[in-house]
Amino acid sequence: PIFLVTLLASAQGVHPIQPVIADVARPLPLQDVRLTGGPLKHAQDLDAAYLLRLEPDRMLANFRKRAGMQPKAQPYGGWDGDGKNLSGHILGHYLSAVSLMSSATGDPRFKARVDTILSELKVVQDKQGDGYLGALEQGKERFQEVARGDIRSGGFDLNGLWSPWYVQHKIFAGLRDAYRCTGNPLALAIEIEFAGWAERTLAGLNEAQLQKMLNTEFGAMNEVLADLYADTGDRRWLDLSYKFEHKAVLDPLKRHQDKLSGLHGNTQVPKLMGNLARYAYTGDPGDGYAASFFWDRVVQHHTFATGGHGKNEYFFDADRMSDSVDGRTAETCNVYNMIKMARKLFALRPDPYYAEFHERALFNHILASMDPQDGRTCYMVPVGRGVQHEYQDMEESFTCCVGSGMESHALHAFGIYYEAGDRLWVNLYAPSTATWAAAGLSLATTTDLPIGDEASLAFTLKKPKTFTLNLRRPAWAHEGFQVQVNGQAVASLAKAGDYVEITRTWKTGDVVHLVLPKTLRLEPLPDNPRRAAILWGPLVLAGNLGPEEDFETWKEGSVPVLVAAERPLDQWLKPVAGKPGHFRTEGAGNPHEVDLVPFFQLHRRSYAVYFDLFTPKEWQARSAEYAQAMERQRKLQLATVAYAQPGEMQPERDFNFKGEGLILDEMRRIQGRPFRHSKQWFSFDMPVDAAHPAAVVLTYFQDEWRKRTFTIQVDGQKIADEVIDRGGVPHFFDREYAIPPALVQGKKTVTVRIEAAKDSETPAIFGVRTIR
Ligand code: AHR
Ligand code: ZN
Repeated sequence: PIFLVTLLASAQGVHPIQPVIADVARPLPLQDVRLTGGPLKHAQDLDAAYLLRLEPDRMLANFRKRAGMQPKAQPYGGWDGDGKNLSGHILGHYLSAVSLMSSATGDPRFKARVDTILSELKVVQDKQGDGYLGALEQGKERFQEVARGDIRSGGFDLNGLWSPWYVQHKIFAGLRDAYRCTGNPLALAIEIEFAGWAERTLAGLNEAQLQKMLNTEFGAMNEVLADLYADTGDRRWLDLSYKFEHKAVLDPLKRHQDKLSGLHGNTQVPKLMGNLARYAYTGDPGDGYAASFFWDRVVQHHTFATGGHGKNEYFFDADRMSDSVDGRTAETCNVYNMIKMARKLFALRPDPYYAEFHERALFNHILASMDPQDGRTCYMVPVGRGVQHEYQDMEESFTCCVGSGMESHALHAFGIYYEAGDRLWVNLYAPSTATWAAAGLSLATTTDLPIGDEASLAFTLKKPKTFTLNLRRPAWAHEGFQVQVNGQAVASLAKAGDYVEITRTWKTGDVVHLVLPKTLRLEPLPDNPRRAAILWGPLVLAGNLGPEEDFETWKEGSVPVLVAAERPLDQWLKPVAGKPGHFRTEGAGNPHEVDLVPFFQLHRRSYAVYFDLFTPKEWQARSAEYAQAMERQRKLQLATVAYAQPGEMQPERDFNFKGEGLILDEMRRIQGRPFRHSKQWFSFDMPVDAAHPAAVVLTYFQDEWRKRTFTIQVDGQKIADEVIDRGGVPHFFDREYAIPPALVQGKKTVTVRIEAAKDSETPAIFGVRTIR
């Protein structure tokens, strides 16, 4: 959102550019739209209260410390804390969030927060003396190594720091948003100094060195630098943005190749957001192709019914959804960023397709990502069968999604309305008021959507004005869809998924009324027509599987299936009287019927978004098989002392993962499952239960390239020689290795080490489990 920028910038001697590719449809600026009710407003209010509860001095503490100054308060912990963390990311997110919230509400307390943080950052930056800003322990030193060409990069690690450019990006974005939303010139001044530091850091690196550095996640550094170019007119920043051009990812996308499988989702979405921004400023077609192709592919081939994508943060094979729904799916940062892209793509090419995604992702994933009672936000908002929200501790955890959540819920009013001089688009129906300044129009939308089905828009105009009103007829609004202008039915209604266009001279007192009836439908997965989500209008319905603490995935029947395939939905899913949006299966749920409610309303429960569908005959055949598998799983779970997931960041930290000769090749997943393999060894520290006979269970995949010979060791002692040969039908399987009792006696943990034999490698290991 570019708000006050133009006016203020010229006062400072900077000259904002005019984009080469101008917006066809301009979103009504955030400060000109006010939410007045409904769930979006509720989420915004909770976010606003949370932002005011947080203490800027605490998020500034490590910035001061790194500059050799006394912190004014205790730093926050979690991912914002000292140690190998994303220290500083929260200040960046927070600065963005209070800036956006200042525009979204007009509440002066947010502007005051912005101003305070800017003055504090200025002091810190001056003390640093070279434009640098940062809270990372050893941050400046590590960046200096990078500047000298000493670059050690991996997915999330650059010279021993966790995604340091990702963190810098959050700070840049905070400064940009502060400048664009509040116009405080200090934000731009600090940002320019900071960009100068970034420029000097990269000045001596050749292309190969830059590409090596870009192997580590870097947020949307390309975007903030392109934005800085736009805000200042200084081409230095545009040139610098091209230094964050990650060729390994972008080149295939520019050629319209989807090689996303196995890539980390939230590492990629921001990059492409950057390409999209730069495309508009410069018209660079490569940027445009890559960004729009990427967005299309993600939405059409990697996205669940809720608008979320990815499993355990990674993209899976295109359209390979059925195997990927369960577990830790759909990270919230990603959805936030995909919506940002959707708004911009719509602005450039006002196609309802982008608005459909915006609505879906906003009313399903994003609203579901916040607990409506206390405003806690979620990391993952999983979509599987028998899953739970990953609520975060809002004062302690400070994970990435807590940070992006601060911003996300301040932006709900952005992208409801767009204008183009002689046209006004209404993309979302949400209680709000809006001003279209250039047209002298104010409007008020009242609606009981998304639960109800009516919306009214009342117009006030300084003087009558002729323009076309584009009312989105959602793809879900079929029979019974109506539009009236001042009580008169509009005859030409457009098809579902398109715009109803009404051109007339509008005047004060005009009222447009819409009826948007919702119907139920199944949305099967592309690769499995028998695994489906259930939608009611724009809303995904979730099956309520009871309180979180009572739920045990392994228990047979804990996730009911629907013996309802090939039967019309309204025969077996019935509305619950007096509770709009609530449904109950009738003669379909097995082993019991299921209560379904709008996903965004279902909190603190175990739930299922996807369900398996069977005909009665199929179900009979499957249930025996199913019961056996469940029983095996149940026994394993019961016996489990601990489970470590190789190849996943958090479990690897929790279980003290170590290794040498690790193979960090491009393919980080097989059939969606992460793994580790090595030319030498790797190990995990695993809890054991000394009171019982113990064993290690390793998960393999029967599809190795060549024979692997290796040993399994516990606390330095070999417990098994093992060989996994190539060939056979590809499938995952477990093998169990008994641990001699003497090795666990009196111990709480043991080190489980997998070591390649001479001239061999370890196989890919997909799971390490200790059992009793
Ligand atoms: O590494 C920073 C962020 O934390 C990633 O983008 C997110 O997926 C992760 O968990
Ligand atoms: Zn996140």
